[in-house]
Amino acid sequence: MPTTAILSIDQGTTSSRAIVFSLDGQPLASAQYEFKQYYPKNGWVEHDPEEIWETTYRACEEALAEAVEKGIEVVSIGITNQRETTLVWDKRTGKAIYNAIVWQDRRTAEICAGLQDALDTVKTKTGLLLDPYFSSTKIAWILDNVTGARALAEAGHLAFGTIDTFLIWRLTGGQSHVTDATNACRTNLYNIHNNSWDDELLALFDVPKSVLPSILDSASDFGTTAEHVFYKRIPINGVAGDQQAALFGQCCFNNGDLKSTYGTGCFALLNTGDTALPSKNKLLTTVAYRLDGKTTYALEGAIFTAGANVQWLRDGIKVIKVARETQALAESLDYDHGVFLVPGFAGLGAPHWEPKARATMFGMTRDTNNAHLARAALEAVCYQTADLLHAMKQDGAASKSVWVDGGMVANDWLCQFLADILNIEVKRPEMMESTALGAAYLAGLKQGLYKDFSEISGHKALDKAFKPKMQTETRSELLTKWQVAVQSTLHFAR
Ligand code: G3P
Repeated sequence: MPTTAILSIDQGTTSSRAIVFSLDGQPLASAQYEFKQYYPKNGWVEHDPEEIWETTYRACEEALAEAVEKGIEVVSIGITNQRETTLVWDKRTGKAIYNAIVWQDRRTAEICAGLQDALDTVKTKTGLLLDPYFSSTKIAWILDNVTGARALAEAGHLAFGTIDTFLIWRLTGGQSHVTDATNACRTNLYNIHNNSWDDELLALFDVPKSVLPSILDSASDFGTTAEHVFYKRIPINGVAGDQQAALFGQCCFNNGDLKSTYGTGCFALLNTGDTALPSKNKLLTTVAYRLDGKTTYALEGAIFTAGANVQWLRDGIKVIKVARETQALAESLDYDHGVFLVPGFAGLGAPHWEPKARATMFGMTRDTNNAHLARAALEAVCYQTADLLHAMKQDGAASKSVWVDGGMVANDWLCQFLADILNIEVKRPEMMESTALGAAYLAGLKQGLYKDFSEISGHKALDKAFKPKMQTETRSELLTKWQVAVQSTLHFAR
């Protein structure tokens, strides 16, 4: 009997991956390709849609070929993706009319500033804020800046999609124009209370309804891959934005469960069950997953750069050759090394939401070297996580421990410093590909391969728990200095 498995597609900000998972959540075959980031202007970030498609397709083909060779039967596909990133394509050709505008892109900051009168409406309906991060103003920008785009949209020729929608469109040969609730809820156009596109918001952001996809549950029938796309036709049954997929892959199914993912950015999501908890502290109220028409919500803190800080050290200022060097460099210094980095490389997200903020370094001396820069870059991610958890606590949602995942948490020093600064237990699972795993679990649920959440949770194992060890005075001294650095950065931006 061949092993039954699920192909998970994880289309992230810097790479496209395909992982074939066994039903107990073990990776059996995989492939991954990085692609180029385009920065055409200050604050702009774009991806080439064809590079996204090609890297994703190549990764899938390779992972599937490996699976076939190993005698593995892939029965379903799950898709997870960088959220908010916006694509508009011509339905007649399947070709995008402009590059993908990436979630980190700040070009619509002025449009958002001009809409501040509508902030309360936006917050109440979408659980989000007004920031260029979300898709709505990016869609309008494309329609207003690509010649003839609005007319084409009015004529019904254009389709908008986040990356999930674009990949499904391509994989199904243009048969499905769909998304799931976790992706829809990141557009600023989706009402998280009645689960549908909202006419008032569409008018506010000037987005025609004709370009929008249909919204499905996260475990659903999203379509089947067209003939000749892969070696056989495979149904697509699971879709979730990457942070929600990580929450699912970490089995955070209960009210109060918290995970924090350290990829390009860092995103902490806390399951709030069937309550869409409004935030008074600039966190986001978001859909965790929607199953059988029932929405589970989460409170989210979004930090725009985490792994991207390390990428900047490696590719930007070239003070390290590979990311894992940062662990030894960080370990070589004491707590009082004195250098702080406020990583506003793409503005600052939660809880400040200042698109004009820029990265700032504090406390350098002639003695400052690559160890200080590496350590400050890692510490910043931990301090920012502390700010998010503090805001969650103020909103009445605290957790005694946090599950972590993403590339950065392979670094033990980072996990320990995180536990020290948060002053709660940090738990790292054995399987760190939670994002891809979450999409696979969703697809498996739809296929009836799991009977319930407890069967899925049964596959989870702890790799290591990090307990706080830092003295209280040290922690409060560091956090006080961090706050001064953040406030100075914000002051400079304004
Ligand atoms: O909201 C943006 C987020 O989905 C990007 O995730 O993994 O590329 O940092 P990641």
